[in-house]
Parts: sequence; structure tokens; C-alpha cells
Amino acid sequence: MIIGLTNQKGGSGKTTVSGHLAYWLSKRGTVIVVDADAQQSSTNWMKDLQLSCKTMIDPDDLFDELPQLATQYDNVVVDGPGSLSETTKAILSRCDLALVPCKPAGLDMHSTSKMLRILRQARELRGGLPHVGLFLNHAKKGTILLKDAIRALAEQNTGFPLLKTVIYDLQVIADAPGQGTSVWGMSGATAKRAIIDFESLFTEALKVPNAKN
Ligand SMILES: Nc1ncnc2c1ncn2[C@@H]1O[C@H](COP(=O)(O)OP(=O)(O)OP(=O)(O)O)[C@@H](O)[C@H]1O
Ligand SMILES: [Mg+2]
Repeated sequence: MIIGLTNQKGGSGKTTVSGHLAYWLSKRGTVIVVDADAQQSSTNWMKDLQLSCKTMIDPDDLFDELPQLATQYDNVVVDGPGSLSETTKAILSRCDLALVPCKPAGLDMHSTSKMLRILRQARELRGGLPHVGLFLNHAKKGTILLKDAIRALAEQNTGFPLLKTVIYDLQVIADAPGQGTSVWGMSGATAKRAIIDFESLFTEALKVPNAKN
């Protein structure tokens, strides 16, 4: 399966979540990360995690090579760029599942609606693909911002399922890549919390293609 982490909004968590997803998937089968962001943040981190990773930014390369990689690996995780570029569109034209991290802090509905529009267009062109799952990342527990974001991103407003699992703003998540590891390699109660949340998010996300969406 090709899973693309996409959102043109910079800093929403595409790299963080794609790296953790790839690590989690690597315990279940073969996986390669495609770093489609010119910043190449995934590339070094994936080396530390000893996961296969390929940098690929050119939209034509992504279009041609993603299906090939999907025949060689059980899962291909694509870390998308922070822009609504041709690169993002190429990812959406090839992935089976698009996961869209949204940051509740200053949730910019104008920017989000642009992303939703591109997702709808891709699905129209491809007869219902990619499957889409929106989720909240970088959330602060019990805040009005989080409540508002859950309301704004509800399926009846966007047309796409909002995954129930919320990933909270946890220092351990921010620290793991700098230490060349994932939350599974960190110790302490917060790391345990992050592991539980990521496992719940990924289990839920993998069910999206089998749901009605
Ligand atoms: N749940 C979280 N808790 C704490 N920090 C987080 C969390 N998610 C992401 N971050 C931090 O927020 C910053 C942005 O995350 P990340 O780089 O994954 O976003 P991105 O969508 O890939 O950004 P870009 O569009 O620039 O590629 C990073 O410093 C990361 O460590
Ligand atoms: Mg990134």
C-alpha cells in the first residue's frame, strides 16, 4: 500500500508521523520511505532508524516510480512537502491512502479547505482514490482550540473521516528524531503515552481503506 502524508500546511507533522508510521510498519512487513520534501528531513532520520529511504521530489519521478516501489515493498510511506505543489498532486495521484495531519493551533480553515479541495479533485479523477483520513496532531488536551478543530474537521463539514485518535503535543515526539530514534526508543511515561497514541492512530488509519470512504 502507498500511504502519503500530505498537507500543504508546513509544520503540521507530516515528517514526524510518516517516520513513526514507517517504523511501526517495519515491524509488520517491508517498508520504504519516500522523502518528497526538498528539506529532506526524513532522509537522515530514516538512516538512523535503519529504514530504507529514497529522496524523490520530481512529480514525474513520483508518478512513475511509486507504483514500482509498491511492487517491491509491502508499504511505501511518502513524506510530502509543505506546499500545494505538483509534487503533492503527484503523491495524491498515486497513493492508496492519504493521511492529513492538522494542527489545531491556529487551524487555518482557508488553508485546510484548499487541501480538501485538492483531495476531492484527486478522488474525482481517480474514481474514489485515494482513501483519506484527517487527524489532529500537536494538540493540547482540554483546550478550546482542540474542541473547535474537532468540530471544524468533522466528517459532515469536510466529507472526509476525522480519525478519533488525537496525537498530543508531547516533547518526546519532538525529541525522538534528534536522538536518532522513534518514540519506541525513548523511555518514560510520556514515551509510553506517545506509543499508545501512535499505535492507535496507525491501527485506525489502516482501517480507512476498508471503510465506506
Ligand atoms: N505531536 C507532536 N508533539 C510535539 N512536537 C511535534 C509533534 N508533531 C510534530 N512536532 C514537531 O513540530 C515540528 C514540525 O513537525 P514536522 O516536521 O513533522 O512537520 P511537517 O509537516 O513535516 O513540516 P514541513 O511542512 O515543514 O515538512 C517539528 O519540530 C516536530 O518535532
Ligand atoms: Mg516535513
